[in-house]
Amino acid sequence: MRLLDIYAKMKSDLEVIEERLARSVSSDHSLLTETSTHLLKAGGKRIRPVFVLLSGKFGQYDLATLERVAVPLELIHMASLVHDDVIDDAATRRGQLTVKAKWDNRIAMYTGDYIHGKALTIVTELPNPLIHQILAKAMVQMCIGEMEQIRDFFNTKQTIRDYLLRIRRKTALLLAISCQLGAVAAGADAATYNRLYRFGYNVGMAFQIGDDLLDLLGTEKQIGKPPGSDIRQGNITLPVLLALNDPNVKDALLSEIHHIHAEGGAGDTRAALKLIRKSEGIKIAENLVSRYIFKAIQALEGLPAITAKKNLTDIAHFVAKRNY
Ligand code: IPE
Ligand code: IPE
Ligand code: MG
Ligand code: MG
Repeated sequence: MRLLDIYAKMKSDLEVIEERLARSVSSDHSLLTETSTHLLKAGGKRIRPVFVLLSGKFGQYDLATLERVAVPLELIHMASLVHDDVIDDAATRRGQLTVKAKWDNRIAMYTGDYIHGKALTIVTELPNPLIHQILAKAMVQMCIGEMEQIRDFFNTKQTIRDYLLRIRRKTALLLAISCQLGAVAAGADAATYNRLYRFGYNVGMAFQIGDDLLDLLGTEKQIGKPPGSDIRQGNITLPVLLALNDPNVKDALLSEIHHIHAEGGAGDTRAALKLIRKSEGIKIAENLVSRYIFKAIQALEGLPAITAKKNLTDIAHFVAKRNY
């Protein structure tokens, strides 16, 4: 099933979110409005707001409340992307120039901070401190995850556990709390929002491993940025770590990574990509994606059989197979 087909049934509510997103980043300052709107207009899957809305269906669904969670979560995601592109020195995102490329790093820093501020402005319209606490904690964890990633750039000795902990922080937690907070805001009970959290967490792990696979296997058209960007920047992802465990490619790959590192971000990644693609790492990473998706769907067992449950299951299947 395509993501668009799943979203079709939520069209009018998503339009409200879209409109609120646009409004949320506009007006205070023309340059900040322009930089934030640039990324917003470039599109994106909006998977976090969708998780909020679908999870809200397991409680008392009220769009005016849920949008105050959905919009901040997409904004926090967007802010993290603006900053991430500075760290990753990325020229394109969502098929468009990144804020750092169209303007510069300094402007990107404050654009990210501005979007964060806007997220907080909206979520604090809700009087529920639990929501604020969960969100603040996740923001802290995301920073730790991204910081750990910088620390581990070009570290070929890191463990798979290091990698999993990092993607848990930088990606999976935000998807987990998107589900959790949708249910919390809708007044669902703890058993319900804990299940939804587990769903989002497992989808999130699969999502980032899938993202890392796409960076190695996808085309520029599919992923909106040149493939091989991760390894060029020194981000050693799961398929690479697994390839380094494959005796058939290990030594050659280590030497390629060494060259890429020595060339300081301008290196030719083609030989490294070729080695990784033919290694056992791809299959093993794909199997792990399937396992996380299985666990995500398992977490939904015990929830009432409403349409939202089917939609969440369909999204999990989409994430398992996604190619954009
Ligand atoms: C990209 O997230 C960054 C990761 C966490 C992998 P998305 O793939 O959700 O990005 P958009 O919002 O659709 O562009
Ligand atoms: C995800 O990391 C970004 C955040 C969670 C902040 P990536 O570096 O893998 O994401 P892309 O590939 O740039 O979208
Ligand atoms: Mg990046
Ligand atoms: Mg990154």
